[in-house]
Amino acid sequence: MRVIVLGSAAGGGAPQWNCACAVCLDGRADRTQDTVAVSGDGTVWYLINAGPDIRSQILRTPDLAPGPGLRQTPVRGVLLTTAELDHTLGLLSLREAVRLEVYATAAVTEALAPVRSMLGHYTDLRWRAMPVRLDGGLDLDRLTVGRKRPRYAADLDGADWVSALRLTDRRTGSSFVYATCLPAWTAEFDAFVAGADQVLLDGTFATEDELTRATGRPGSASSMGHLPMASSRVHAARHPGTRFRYGHVNNTNPSTADVVADGSELLTS
Ligand code: MLT
Ligand code: MN
Ligand code: ZN
Repeated sequence: MRVIVLGSAAGGGAPQWNCACAVCLDGRADRTQDTVAVSGDGTVWYLINAGPDIRSQILRTPDLAPGPGLRQTPVRGVLLTTAELDHTLGLLSLREAVRLEVYATAAVTEALAPVRSMLGHYTDLRWRAMPVRLDGGLDLDRLTVGRKRPRYAADLDGADWVSALRLTDRRTGSSFVYATCLPAWTAEFDAFVAGADQVLLDGTFATEDELTRATGRPGSASSMGHLPMASSRVHAARHPGTRFRYGHVNNTNPSTADVVADGSELLTS
């Protein structure tokens, strides 16, 4: 299995266009918005989410280059873990696809009704429930980790709003967990990551009060559905055989050694 981080930032990217916080101003922040590419055979690729930067992310990733057919792409489908705009706006930028396969839960599917109706006029859109097997030799497990709805979908019901995904290579047994929106480390989540080789965790905020301290804006990490890294590191330490790293990094969050960069390869076998 191969796993490439196409983008490592939370919504807004880093730097964020209207933010003058210390991290945005220091000039080193350079992150596009959270999207990951996975493949079991190095030929067929799936995107985990489709953020607003998807076009430039695909263009700078040689494994995702089109061909040899004139409109052939290695991108076989998109797996959505939330309906948030920073995970889904890129779907509209994939409208040139001859055919687009999108996999999502019932709640995410319902919330994205306007996007589905627009996209259906541009491409042969196949919208399905999350599969358990992916082309290229991967198995997929999904766990609902949160019920936080996007702000634009606040009046909708549903339960399976925020998912973690576990991908397992059927040939080598290697496994990768994607959980960049994780409100809490539950017993179910602990079992879900047990024995995984690599985990990409929620790196939105380093601490509970980061956003307010850095920008003066209201909102704790937990109130926004994001377990801070200071808490998840304690849980991760109970799994010494698993490598934990952080993605979906907010622009206020100064990088540490366990935070991934755009273009990072997390797993190569
Ligand atoms: C989140 O990760 O909590 C959302 O993307 C927030 C947002 O869209 O503002
Ligand atoms: Mn987000
Ligand atoms: Zn900032």
